[in-house]
Amino acid sequence: METKPIYILAIESSCDDTSAAVLCDKKRLSNVVATQKIHEEYGGVVPELASRAHQQNIVPVVHQALAQANIDKKQLSAIAFTRGPGLMGSLLVGTSFAKSLSLGLNIPLIEVNHMQAHILAHFIEEENCKTPSFPFLAMTISGGHTQIVLVKDYFKMEVLGTTLDDAVGEAFDKSAKILGLPYPGGPLIDKYAQFGNPAAFPFPKSKVGDLNFSFSGLKTSILYFIQKQVKENPNFIAENRDDICASIQFTIVDVLMTKLKKALKQTGIKQIAIGGGVAANSGIRKALEDAEKKYGWVTYIPKFEYCTDNAAMIGIVGYLKYKEELFSEQSVTAKARYVL
Ligand code: KG4
Ligand code: ZN
Repeated sequence: METKPIYILAIESSCDDTSAAVLCDKKRLSNVVATQKIHEEYGGVVPELASRAHQQNIVPVVHQALAQANIDKKQLSAIAFTRGPGLMGSLLVGTSFAKSLSLGLNIPLIEVNHMQAHILAHFIEEENCKTPSFPFLAMTISGGHTQIVLVKDYFKMEVLGTTLDDAVGEAFDKSAKILGLPYPGGPLIDKYAQFGNPAAFPFPKSKVGDLNFSFSGLKTSILYFIQKQVKENPNFIAENRDDICASIQFTIVDVLMTKLKKALKQTGIKQIAIGGGVAANSGIRKALEDAEKKYGWVTYIPKFEYCTDNAAMIGIVGYLKYKEELFSEQSVTAKARYVL
């Protein structure tokens, strides 16, 4: 007997990207992301502005996702949405919208944990894309998250390490700000690092012993170092930009790789699935390639559109939960702190 395809409409609004996607089973039919440019002027995400922008974007983004997928809303099997973690005002927009639509269409509502979605994004079916097998380790690295997770099954996950202060993307962005680079500065540090010497300026690495991370000390040491150098030579940043960027990137990548190595040793697992915007960083990609050759690791990095915040990753969790009939009640509320 032929099984009926399942169509999931997914909504993501946890931070500063308003996104909607339609999935047919594990395949993405559309994945529309409206990135809020307004935060660039402020050097970081302003929660109140993010919430307002979500309210303006959500209807057109959902319309576009349905149109691109060539699906009528009457064909939908369920609505999946990000319940948390994230900014409360942002989450509320997607949550209320999803609840109303599921009520209006009389179809199931499925809540999704954003961190679980970053990991399960690896299971969106794409041509020429391999998927990890259980158990594997997932490292989610972005402007909002830094986590190493032991993934035993779709819904059995254990956080092995997380950041105690700044996320790794924040470490890149805040370092870039010290150098006078525009927000978000992570991609620029990566760009200039290509031309610099990573050993030019040794920065201290955090001494957190277990699998947790701490990046605030690095930011402070970069700030003091730059202030001291600029006092002696006002052109220090301009004259040494590439070397400074290469040194910052080297330090951050080294921290990430040291923790990964430790996690692999501790668990005996050799498969690593990477996600989050910082997965674009050329330094971490190169280090992972080297580790594949040197230690026989197997690394998975999904298409970049599934690394950054997007609704397709919410949709794949929606599909997997739909299969298990893990539905939510209409009384479900957004949850800013929502642990895995
Ligand atoms: O996943 P994402 O788009 O948004 C969230 O933070 O949720 O990640 C954005 C973060 C920013 O901090 C940005 O600077 C960083 O990812 N990023 C990079 C690179 N591309 C993006 N950091 C270092 N190198 C890159 N190539
Ligand atoms: Zn995210």
